[in-house]
Amino acid sequence: MLHRARPRFVSGAELRAHTAASEQQIASELKDLQRVGFEIETHPHLGHRLVETPDRLMADDLMARRHGTVIGSRILVFHRTASTNDVVARQGAGGGAEGLAVFAESQTAGRGRQGRKWESPAGKGLWFSVLLRPSFGVDGAGRITVAASVAVAQVLRRVGGVDARIKWPNDVTVRGRKLAGILTEWHQGNGTHPYAVLGIGVDVNCRPSDWPESLAGVTTSLLIETGREHDRPSLAAMLLDELDGLWRETGSSFDRIIARWADLNTTLGRQLRLRVGSRVIEGFAQALDGDGALLARRDNGQVERVLSGDVVVEK
Ligand code: BTN
Repeated sequence: MLHRARPRFVSGAELRAHTAASEQQIASELKDLQRVGFEIETHPHLGHRLVETPDRLMADDLMARRHGTVIGSRILVFHRTASTNDVVARQGAGGGAEGLAVFAESQTAGRGRQGRKWESPAGKGLWFSVLLRPSFGVDGAGRITVAASVAVAQVLRRVGGVDARIKWPNDVTVRGRKLAGILTEWHQGNGTHPYAVLGIGVDVNCRPSDWPESLAGVTTSLLIETGREHDRPSLAAMLLDELDGLWRETGSSFDRIIARWADLNTTLGRQLRLRVGSRVIEGFAQALDGDGALLARRDNGQVERVLSGDVVVEK
């Protein structure tokens, strides 16, 4: 409630009415919040107001900030874990409900596509995964990545004012450098209840010294692009809300998402060299189909439908 009222004061009576808690319980809650880093100003007549929030991810705080209906309906935050995708996969296998979002301040075995390592420096980015229970089959798995990349690019454009673009299949880039990555993993479950784990990594407040040298010039962050630090909890809540809206559209009006993707992407209309497993396909990136697969036209006119791969060269 203090979040939503910001920067207004909220009177003790309002807080009591909203939370159904006693004056004493509220006083102790406020103390707890101050102990974990929230700066709360108390005025004898006006009540309380939130002045500053800590740059730490906390499940209750994120729950209070989000507005969506499905994504983030349950939130867990780990100080450190191997990979948030693994945590969510376990929850999925155990029958967990769609929408669970798991964040970690750092990952010891964060991974990207094709088994690549994903650098996840502590407290510098948003490393999180969401449990999805799609109404479509594995053929539509690409839709998840497409919708998520649109959500991430839109939020980064809005918050950071950066020219975030999407490089097929899963990169969000600025000035050709990677700012965020998406890893969608499909699990067949017991056959009748497949689920998907949507993993997202956003380099928010990372500095070049947070990455190995091999990533110099390849990766960027919101801090590097805008010259200022960004509030990760607020960005996290915005991402959950944007994903919530787009996930609903993924089931009902995916065409609209493809249209937005097309506006933001840097891949279509180019001659590409794609690495798909051990194969290399050269062709013109023509369109994205209704399942999020890339349609690449070869020189001989044959159109290849590529579900996932690496763009080696974009001409
Ligand atoms: C890529 O660009 O190849 C995808 C990167 C995905 C990284 C995120 S961080 C949260 C989640 N947990 C992981 O281990 N990976 C994803």
